[in-house]
Amino acid sequence: MHEDTKVVRGIDEEKFHKTDAYMNKSLNSHRLPIYQTSTYMFDSLEEAYAAFTGEEHHHIYSRVSNPNALYLGTKVAMLEGAEAGLPFNSGMAAIFATIFTLLKPGNRILATKPVYGGTSELLTHLSQNWGIGVDVLAGEEFYEALERGGYDMVFVETPGNPTLTVYDISLISEIAHRNGAVVVVDNTFATPFHQKPLKWGADVVLHSTTKYLNGHGDTIGGVVVGSQDFISDLMHKTKMLGTLMQPFNAWLTARGLRTLAVRMRKHSENAMRIAQFLEGRPEVVEVYYPGLPSFPYHEIAKRQMENGFSGMVSFVLDGTREHLRRFMTSLEIFHFAVSLGDTDSLATSPALTTHALAEDFDFPENLVRLSVGLEDADDLIADLESALNRAFHTSAIG
Ligand SMILES: Cc1ncc(COP(=O)(O)O)c(C=O)c1O
Repeated sequence: MHEDTKVVRGIDEEKFHKTDAYMNKSLNSHRLPIYQTSTYMFDSLEEAYAAFTGEEHHHIYSRVSNPNALYLGTKVAMLEGAEAGLPFNSGMAAIFATIFTLLKPGNRILATKPVYGGTSELLTHLSQNWGIGVDVLAGEEFYEALERGGYDMVFVETPGNPTLTVYDISLISEIAHRNGAVVVVDNTFATPFHQKPLKWGADVVLHSTTKYLNGHGDTIGGVVVGSQDFISDLMHKTKMLGTLMQPFNAWLTARGLRTLAVRMRKHSENAMRIAQFLEGRPEVVEVYYPGLPSFPYHEIAKRQMENGFSGMVSFVLDGTREHLRRFMTSLEIFHFAVSLGDTDSLATSPALTTHALAEDFDFPENLVRLSVGLEDADDLIADLESALNRAFHTSAIG
């Protein structure tokens, strides 16, 4: 064998992987390895033909399927109580692939308001360029439109980004099904630890795994779960779109997911403490947290959510944009960054960041959104207190 061939092919990786190099035994690793490969080999023409025609399950190519992605999808499906699941290379890809699979031009979507700014932009684009009718409505207007019907999909984000508005999944599913619409829930803010939409009648649940499911702020990803038939169809569309989550990200996300319960317990305990602290501050006009008895959606949240209310808290500063600027730049433990569900506490101003390009939003410009992390609650409260003091009670502002 020439040197050129040897460096490329010297030891057959596939054989090396399948047997223990010393004992010549089957490998028995405790954790699923990262299958960082683009393609898979076939032992025969017949096997390849069966794989391509779908007669046999066989990994072919990592855009189509890969063991790490399938493992992650199956695990989230188990947590959500679904038959099957599929992960994507972003939450937005998960949302787009779901709409692409379930709808066609001429169909209509009814969505809750508020939704994540990226979702809102996508819905606007679909209505302007793809011939899909879109209504994004809040509160009573939403429920009235739902009752009137004429929609093919009802898209529910609850709690909603960034005002934590809670929608009643059970009531929505009942009306939507009566009117022939499929119900899709974005469960990113709650996670299956706090909320299981399928239990309340939803058909499809999706997440940005970038957030709590991965939980460590080091990957971008999404996941969709639902019936086996729907996920098979979604897999077929995903092959065309090229949006499947890749092995290393799927492996990292599955790794983060193992601590979901302990993390969510702490996120939610810390968030409750912070919401109570903010409620007592004169510089704060409103606090949005589903766990607060004063929150208008608390009763629905109590019924629909379990084990607490997750780690997102939003509040409105009683001041000007200058107060907001000073508050955001005075925080020391909270980092000023978008995204959420990280181990670290993050703070953002949705009106000037995530929702800046959304068609229209109806929350105050001075709303601050906190993703409460896993640090000590007293340290986080002290950080918020000192930032409020610096923003409101120093001489620079009258
Ligand atoms: C509720 C919600 N859904 C979906 C997304 C989009 O997810 P990704 O950023 O992973 O594409 C986000 C992102 O912030 C979100 O907050």
